[in-house]
Amino acid sequence: MPYASVSSEAGLNRPITINTLRKMKAQGDKFVTVALYDAPMAAMALKSGVEVLLVGDSLGMTVLGYDSTIPVTMEQMIYHVEAVKRGNSLSLIMGDMPFMTYATPEQAMANATRIMQAGAHMVKIEGGEWLADTVRMLSERGIPVCAHLGLTPQSVNKFGGFRVQGRDQAQAQKILDDARLLDQAGADLLVLECVPSALAQAITAAVDMPTIGIGAGRETDAQVLVINDILGLTPQPPKFSKNFLVEAEDIPGALRKYVGDVKNGVFPDEVHTFG
Ligand code: KIV
Repeated sequence: MPYASVSSEAGLNRPITINTLRKMKAQGDKFVTVALYDAPMAAMALKSGVEVLLVGDSLGMTVLGYDSTIPVTMEQMIYHVEAVKRGNSLSLIMGDMPFMTYATPEQAMANATRIMQAGAHMVKIEGGEWLADTVRMLSERGIPVCAHLGLTPQSVNKFGGFRVQGRDQAQAQKILDDARLLDQAGADLLVLECVPSALAQAITAAVDMPTIGIGAGRETDAQVLVINDILGLTPQPPKFSKNFLVEAEDIPGALRKYVGDVKNGVFPDEVHTFG
């Protein structure tokens, strides 16, 4: 049976759009995101009620075995966005733009077009103030944008490693200012990665767009985890992740547990959070 004909059963029963997510933020209802890369997982996410699928450039590390996301290419992203699209007809699909494919607004325009034409509903780009013109340009031309602040993995060499960001006052203020700027420029979502939970909470209150946390505490509007972490496939899992398969019978069960725990405010708890 083709994945496109998998029914959502207890999962989603209507297409998720950015309006759905905005409404959920306004109502205080948490939504759930999973970073995944292929059709079978995308189909299981549909059955388990995952609202947003991120085809993350984390696939460079989780699937292709690189030690960072920097080698990932446009061709690889397009290949995986197309696969995810074939597996799921209802979740909102977000496609990551790889390293240096959005260094100028014009380059971003050309490459975002390819990701959208592969089947994404939105693109994700990493960075702050310098991306405001790019966000405006994409947004005005009909391409929704998810911004990404905090630990932005494509800048790992600039950070000197995968480190928590925004721990000192000046850095925290800069991340908050960047979030406001990108919100005003027209960004539709914001991923906050590895920042103290108090900062993520302040940003979530300060911006109109919904925020999605990973290692950012439980006060964001949504959570995202990488499928490999959810299923216990990561050799040295990060502090903020959790293996949900140990509490479930199968993969859809693990996804349903993750969805339920996020929506009920049980995940993330203190052990997954940076103070
Ligand atoms: O590439 C990715 O999967 C991501 C998430 C970890 C947020 O950017």
